[in-house]
Amino acid sequence: MFAPLAVSLTSLFVGAQASGIVPDNLVATSLSGALSALKYTGVGGSGSYNQVTNMLPGEFPTCSVNPSCVTAPKAVSGNLAPFDEDMTFVMRGPMQVNNIAVYQPSNSSAATWKKASSWAANQPPENMVFMANVGGGASGEWSICGGSSQAYVGGDWQTAVATPNEQTYSGSLAAGKEVNIMTATTCADGGCDGFSRGTANQGWAGSKMVIFEFTMPDDATSLPAIWGLNAQVVRAAQYGCNCRGVGGDGGCGEIDIAETLVANSVQAVSEIYSFKGATGSGDGNYFARPAAGAAATLAAVFDVKTDAIALVRLSGFDFTQAQLPRSIVDGYLGAPAMQVAFGGNKRRSARPFHRRHH
Ligand SMILES: *[C@@H]1O[C@H](CO)[C@@H](O)[C@H](O)[C@H]1NC(C)=O
Repeated sequence: MFAPLAVSLTSLFVGAQASGIVPDNLVATSLSGALSALKYTGVGGSGSYNQVTNMLPGEFPTCSVNPSCVTAPKAVSGNLAPFDEDMTFVMRGPMQVNNIAVYQPSNSSAATWKKASSWAANQPPENMVFMANVGGGASGEWSICGGSSQAYVGGDWQTAVATPNEQTYSGSLAAGKEVNIMTATTCADGGCDGFSRGTANQGWAGSKMVIFEFTMPDDATSLPAIWGLNAQVVRAAQYGCNCRGVGGDGGCGEIDIAETLVANSVQAVSEIYSFKGATGSGDGNYFARPAAGAAATLAAVFDVKTDAIALVRLSGFDFTQAQLPRSIVDGYLGAPAMQVAFGGNKRRSARPFHRRHH
């Protein structure tokens, strides 16, 4: 689909080389209703979140070690904080995923964003592992009070396997099931912030752009979604002892990139949470949920330099590209978008806790 905007951008750079090229893959502009792009500005701030420093196993049946979830305040500040910390991205089915890639600059002012990680359906991933909260069998660990840690998962994105990526992924995620991505670097190799247990890997820190090509087929009861979390959340317990804070005091960062809240709804909304509070796409604004057979491409750009997060629908994306000039990233960040300022100490009444518990 080519909107006037896309056509004019295309004509601007036909034949252009190197720096200065701008995207030719933006979709028709819509700033309300079914959005083409949503941009969070003023994302970072100074504050603190409650970092998990230990999980004590407890004893069944009371699990009454007090506290069993040991935390300490961690002060953070600066552009994008805490979304400049290493993040993971979670998908909940029903979804069919064709491609995922992550691009990063070597520093916030670099002229080039290089492919850090990628995967295409039925191909081996590059610097990307798929994990789920199913530890305790072939990989990861389980405790009676703390539940399952993360584990590496097999081709169904659900069953724990001993080593990462030992099976091929078709990209089919069953209704209600969840899987998340990490880099191939384990916490045992060093560099993971906060507490981790079982099988634990690092996410993507600093500026990053993650791009998904996917569908969310209808299902009578399930609520497919894509969201990003501070990677510390899943390294402790995604549905238990973690630093998430759900937008209240202490939150270490969550962004719902495209989340359906009603079964079979055509709408996938966005919400952002940190120690500052929460805000989002609001009533009546949403990304169109891509139905079976009509894959959508959605980029989430986390930019330290401009302290912004842009969620941008693309008409397509060449996932084989090894690098992108900053001007393309600027084109995504500057795409006509619904603008949402994430002001300091913004507070919304909390939505009902909608995540599936394990
Ligand atoms: C940022 O990265 C670029 C490209 O790698 C490099 O040339 C530049 O010196 C770096 N700047 C800083 C401040 O590290």
